[in-house]
Amino acid sequence: MSELLKVSNITKTFGGIVAVNNLSFEIHEGETVGFIGPNGAGKSTVVNVLSGYLNADSGEIEMNGVSITKMKPYQRAHMGLARTYQIPRPFPELTALASVATSALCGKKRINQSFEDAMVEATHYLEFVGLFSKRAILARDLTFYELRMLELARSLATTPKLLFIDEVMAGLNPGEANDAIQLIARAKEQFGITIFWIEHVMAVLMESADRIIAINYGEKLAEGTPDEVVNNEAVIEAYLGRGWKTYA
Ligand SMILES: Nc1ncnc2c1ncn2[C@@H]1O[C@H](COP(=O)(O)OP(=O)(O)OP(=O)(O)O)[C@@H](O)[C@H]1O
Ligand SMILES: [Mg+2]
Repeated sequence: MSELLKVSNITKTFGGIVAVNNLSFEIHEGETVGFIGPNGAGKSTVVNVLSGYLNADSGEIEMNGVSITKMKPYQRAHMGLARTYQIPRPFPELTALASVATSALCGKKRINQSFEDAMVEATHYLEFVGLFSKRAILARDLTFYELRMLELARSLATTPKLLFIDEVMAGLNPGEANDAIQLIARAKEQFGITIFWIEHVMAVLMESADRIIAINYGEKLAEGTPDEVVNNEAVIEAYLGRGWKTYA
């Protein structure tokens, strides 16, 4: 598998807090990489730094061999990076369809794409996530599950190569969570997307991830197959605890 993203020695501090500490890892094309660690470990900060929402204090990020470290978020989106937020961030006053169309326009660099074309494209992504019937509803009137699905549709509409998912399961009931997992698997297959997935529900990553990276205090604790990582002493100590399988 070829290397899609190479993260070298990134550090991000907030005042006195070292949220990410000299962290390095790689993501290969076609992989699903799970990203785990306790609350406050620095997971969302890593996604913020990789997507360009925040700048790292130091370190290098390369995508397909090109440095994106200094690029703005929209430039990284044009390179094929997309993300979902831990807490959905809709445009409350836009319809579901217009929300997705806006993302379609902001994604990969396109010349002269009209908003009408983007609306047509957006329809397909709304259908894909099961929100076609909600296309004329304002985002502020959608349910929490629908907002999560809208986030997914918006990120897919940018036609990403690499999608960062920040806790898609949080706040969903088991049936909705299962739908979300199936949808992500289909998105990966249908659109050929590589996935970097923050998730506290370990059973999801055990099933979906090819590889898992675990961090604590912004530093790498372990990296390997799901089985290797859940049996790693440092990961059990810092995060999973013993007997996690009984309630995961
Ligand atoms: N914008 C910010 N300003 C100040 N401190 C921040 C900011 N964002 C994150 N932090 C701090 O950085 C550390 C890492 O936070 P982060 O949100 O990345 O953790 P996380 O692993 O995503 O946690 P969770 O599992 O709870 O989502 C925490 O101590 C947090 O309080
Ligand atoms: Mg987080």
